[in-house]
Amino acid sequence: MAESMKGLKRTHRCTEVSNQNVNETVTVMGWVQKSRNKGGIIFVDLRDRSGILQVIFEEEKCGSESFAKAERLRSEFVVAITGTVALRAGGINKNLATGDIEIIAADLRILSEADTPPFPIEENSKTKEEVRLKYRTLDLRRPDLQRNLILRSRVVSIIRNFLAEEGFLEIETPILNKSTPEGARDYLVPSRVHPGSFYALPQSPQIFKQLLMAAGYDRYYQVAKCFRDEDLRADRQPEFTQIDMELSFVDIDEVLDVNERLLARVFKEAISVEVPLPIQRMTWQEAMERFGSDKPDVRFGMELVNVTEVVKDCDFVVFKGAVENGGSVRGINAKGQGGMPRKKIDALVDFAKGYGAKGLAYIAISEDGTRKSSFAKFMKEEEMDALVDRLDGQPGDLLLFAADRDKIVFSVLGALRCELAEQMELIDKNEFRFLWITEFPVFEWSDEEERYTAMHHPFTMPMEEDLALLDTDMGKARAKAYDIVLNGVELGGGSVRIHQDDIQEKMFRLLGISEEDAHDRFGFLLTAFQYGVPPHAGLAFGLDRMIMLMAGAESIRDVIAFPKVKDASCMMSNAPDKVDAKQLEELCIQVVEAEESAL
Ligand code: AMO
Ligand code: AMP
Repeated sequence: MAESMKGLKRTHRCTEVSNQNVNETVTVMGWVQKSRNKGGIIFVDLRDRSGILQVIFEEEKCGSESFAKAERLRSEFVVAITGTVALRAGGINKNLATGDIEIIAADLRILSEADTPPFPIEENSKTKEEVRLKYRTLDLRRPDLQRNLILRSRVVSIIRNFLAEEGFLEIETPILNKSTPEGARDYLVPSRVHPGSFYALPQSPQIFKQLLMAAGYDRYYQVAKCFRDEDLRADRQPEFTQIDMELSFVDIDEVLDVNERLLARVFKEAISVEVPLPIQRMTWQEAMERFGSDKPDVRFGMELVNVTEVVKDCDFVVFKGAVENGGSVRGINAKGQGGMPRKKIDALVDFAKGYGAKGLAYIAISEDGTRKSSFAKFMKEEEMDALVDRLDGQPGDLLLFAADRDKIVFSVLGALRCELAEQMELIDKNEFRFLWITEFPVFEWSDEEERYTAMHHPFTMPMEEDLALLDTDMGKARAKAYDIVLNGVELGGGSVRIHQDDIQEKMFRLLGISEEDAHDRFGFLLTAFQYGVPPHAGLAFGLDRMIMLMAGAESIRDVIAFPKVKDASCMMSNAPDKVDAKQLEELCIQVVEAEESAL
């Protein structure tokens, strides 16, 4: 039977009680972590969000009624205990913050009983994630998740304080919108009042924050929920949170400056990590050439080496063909991996194929300097020497080469380098390496659509010195866009926006967006800009990813209270779900059964 807490007031959280409180009477409330009866003495570990506190029940001290209740206690019962703080009689437990004290209980109330939980509430749970997500409330009681969410709350308040100090205003923008231009699929919400019309949930507040600049608000930010219907991965959710901001009358340097100071403040105050400023900057081109990625992990080397010049005239068709088709041949040196068994090398080849490679060529150099290679038979001795030389191959090294179009070579070697670094344990997990990537291309070629699309979004300003390229060689034009990368994860990104209508018109034209289409989709922005718009720029951080990295979590699901799984469903509530026929009728919606093959 559950009792009320009438007349009782909690005086401390569990770990707020310390040896400073010895002999004081305290009232603590929480969940029973465990309870053991040791013949006449009952030991209870009481847990709340602050941690664990030991309570002792002895019949002569707490009375027979409370003692009888204590005998019934099971894990996860919710209780209120009043008692006296004492130094531990039975030796200090160094693993607990409250390990030198205990409460000698005088009174116990059982506020709620609990069924046996499907898994124990403990740190580093071995329980399958599916089960944990189904019983998320129990999962959220575990100390690791509590730590993550407490960190998240702390980070958000540090950010709010910092941005307020810097003159930013927190302004909310709508959730029921017209489509925003971030390039993922929209989540749509049907309108009852306008049958057949739909709102789109924001993929980001992009257009609204630009409107706020046109409206004169100068510096805006928002802790913004964003929604994107895209394939999920460990660092992606269908709904996620951005720290979104926009600034007027600024150029790139000012945006980067305020944001790196923001990062330094957050990392210092929340997890005592010093971020040396200024944060290193690298152009997109350099990042691709050296690391094969626009979000390189620079905690380790193993940089890409371009060997196109060395092999362009060789007889190996794979290499020669790639060069002739305008591609390149590049390699990486996995130091000390020359003795890698054939099976493991084959696994690397399969890994590379997963990133679009047709194969992966290798030279394994044994400790005595002899070489084993998958393509030596097609090459002259001096060509092989030159390759080894270019990659600084030493006895014991494994050299891996990809030949293809640049895009594929970069993606394959960029991924392979990270995979090998994991396998070779080259990464210091305690290190935080920030990096700005700048000068992204304005456009990116889409093989699927066979046309150029905006790499960032259509409002991104090209670099002034590249404006002429828009007419002559648009693929080469660079943008005033930037990403902030941490340990190989894209933490945030933004750009300087176009505020001149002639440039905006040209961008739409180059992207194949007709005047009519532009007006239909973004007319309200273009109209607003006709009445005076300041130069402006902005950026958005992915908050979930930031917390994931700060907490050392493996997935953003571990830093979100109620996350969704890979197929965008919620294992706890079963959303999305069917709705009543009546609701559909009101919305004038008819559901067509999806065909098996279309699923
Ligand atoms: P972008 O699309 O780069 O930029 O998004 C900004 C940051 O949001 C995070 N992010 C995600 N996090 C979790 N799950 C997702 N599905 C997801 N998608 C993105 C990333 C990313 O760097 N409006 C622009 C910003 C601007 O130009 O100011 C924008 O949304 O960490
Ligand atoms: P093959 O003659 O097709 O057996 O190829 C010889 C070697 O080249 C094998 O080790 C292949 O994995 C490798 N290879 C094939 N295509 C590529 C490619 N595009 N880039 C790098 N290596 C490749």
